[in-house]
Amino acid sequence: MSNPEKPDLKNGILVTELQDGGKALGVMDGEDVLVVRRGAEFFAVGANCSHYHGPLAEGLVVGETVRCPWHHACFSLRTGEALRAPALDSVSCWRVEHLGDRIFLREKVSPPAPRHAATANGPSSVVIVGGGGAGLAAADMLRREGYDGPLTIVSADDSPPVDRPNLSKDYLAGTAQEDWVPLRSADYYRAQKINLLLNSRVSSLDIKGKQILLENGKKMEFGALLLATGADPVHLPIAGATESQIHYLRTFADSRAIIVKAASAKRVLVVGAGFIGLEVAASMRTRGTSVDVVAPDRQPLERVMGAEVGLFVRKLHESHGVTFHLGETVKGFSGRTATLSSGTNLDVDFLVLGVGVRPSLALAEQAGLAIDRGISVNEYLETSVAGIFAAGDAARWPDPHTGERIRVEHWVVAERQGQVAAKNILGQSQKFDAVPFFWSQHYDVAINYLGHAEKRDAVEIDGSLDARDCAVTYKRGGRTLAVVTISRDLQSLHAEVAMEDELLTQRRHVA
Ligand SMILES: Cc1cc2nc3c(=O)[nH]c(=O)nc-3n(C[C@H](O)[C@H](O)[C@H](O)COP(=O)(O)OP(=O)(O)OC[C@H]3O[C@@H](n4cnc5c(N)ncnc54)[C@H](O)[C@@H]3O)c2cc1C
Ligand code: FES
Repeated sequence: MSNPEKPDLKNGILVTELQDGGKALGVMDGEDVLVVRRGAEFFAVGANCSHYHGPLAEGLVVGETVRCPWHHACFSLRTGEALRAPALDSVSCWRVEHLGDRIFLREKVSPPAPRHAATANGPSSVVIVGGGGAGLAAADMLRREGYDGPLTIVSADDSPPVDRPNLSKDYLAGTAQEDWVPLRSADYYRAQKINLLLNSRVSSLDIKGKQILLENGKKMEFGALLLATGADPVHLPIAGATESQIHYLRTFADSRAIIVKAASAKRVLVVGAGFIGLEVAASMRTRGTSVDVVAPDRQPLERVMGAEVGLFVRKLHESHGVTFHLGETVKGFSGRTATLSSGTNLDVDFLVLGVGVRPSLALAEQAGLAIDRGISVNEYLETSVAGIFAAGDAARWPDPHTGERIRVEHWVVAERQGQVAAKNILGQSQKFDAVPFFWSQHYDVAINYLGHAEKRDAVEIDGSLDARDCAVTYKRGGRTLAVVTISRDLQSLHAEVAMEDELLTQRRHVA
């Protein structure tokens, strides 16, 4: 049976069904297809984002690209290529033929070949320290750009690069399968000739000798180096608690360990009401475990998102059975009893601490690279030493949108920085100027945050938090610095484009 909303594109569709800039959905050989008209041209690409299958038809067409509504990946309409993380893989793309008053889809367009014969001009070898989002995205981009020299990722983790955001969400809640978590399969590393060294911590960096030293005593030379060492959870001593009662969450192994504990637990105490703590709370509730959250804050997430969003998030969690103890800390632990600063005693099976992270700077500090509450990089993500780059949670860069040097802990930023650093390792001199973006998931509510508003003087709410349909704008001096959206994905994409346009205009004025 043909679905009238999704016509079979083999039979073509009427040109009149598509206005300029319009989108239509159809199917081709069983695949969902998005057809887009730009002026006289028609494009056809896979309708589902290669990241988490976001519906591209609900995204935003910008020039010859389409941006995903969920986490802002960007695809070329001409080739299907994933131009911006968090999507790393292309979507399908078809040649479109315009005959009379109809357009027809023809054969698939092959994914783009590596753009440059980069090896000739590239470094003799590339070593990436860090097997996280930034490190993997950098390695992936180096190969996409045609670099075929020796390429190594050295990671202290015991697993290949994983979809870290999933570790506190679907995977922890038990709704994502184990094989969704690795970003790439073992075959990928073999096929791409990426030497992946796991369980391998780099202990020192010799800038002059252009080599790194691993904790196991091995040395490795590099032509170019990327430091993508990420961040480590801040550890908080809890008097009386044993090591096995305290959990942190950063790695795949950490997430698995919490799942094992949760299997036989009745009640968990989450310490910290930030994003990680609250996502853990949501996942534990999904598993049916009782959850208490203790934090010194007045409202969850208040520092980043303000009191209004904080109150909404608190009510959301309370409606799912979470009990908050705000304005409190854990004074001590004895047996199974946590004693809070108010004197309240809670009988809990284990604790998960989500009290922030610190950038992993030891290597950069030891090597004498410039440090400023992160590894200092310029707009090309190059450190104070030529040929050594840094990206991701560890890097502080000059953000052109705020005019400040910032460091953030966002997955999309880490991956995009990895991609830009890779291009710059190959001499492409590309500035990192993406608008920061992150998302957080609490039960069925996704909160998207665009921009960066550490210092704001006004918060404006359009719509209703309680109705879960709103855009919250954070301003300074009348200028929009950041926008939080709930159920307004398109508005978030429009805000991204507006911030990009503002930067372009500024640059034209300066030029
Ligand atoms: C549970 C969880 C959920 C999250 N959810 C979200 C979300 O929903 N949205 C969002 O935007 N962000 C989220 N984040 C943040 C996001 O995951 C980080 O911003 C991102 O992982 C940073 O990437 P990175 O490559 O800089 O660092 P990481 O992914 O932390 O990777 C760092 C790597 O460096 C390695 N390393 C460090 N030092 C050394 C050394 N000396 N030698 C060798 N290897 C070393 C580590 O082993 C690791 O492999 C989440 C983070 C966590 C932990
Ligand atoms: S689903 Fe498209 S960017 Fe995540």
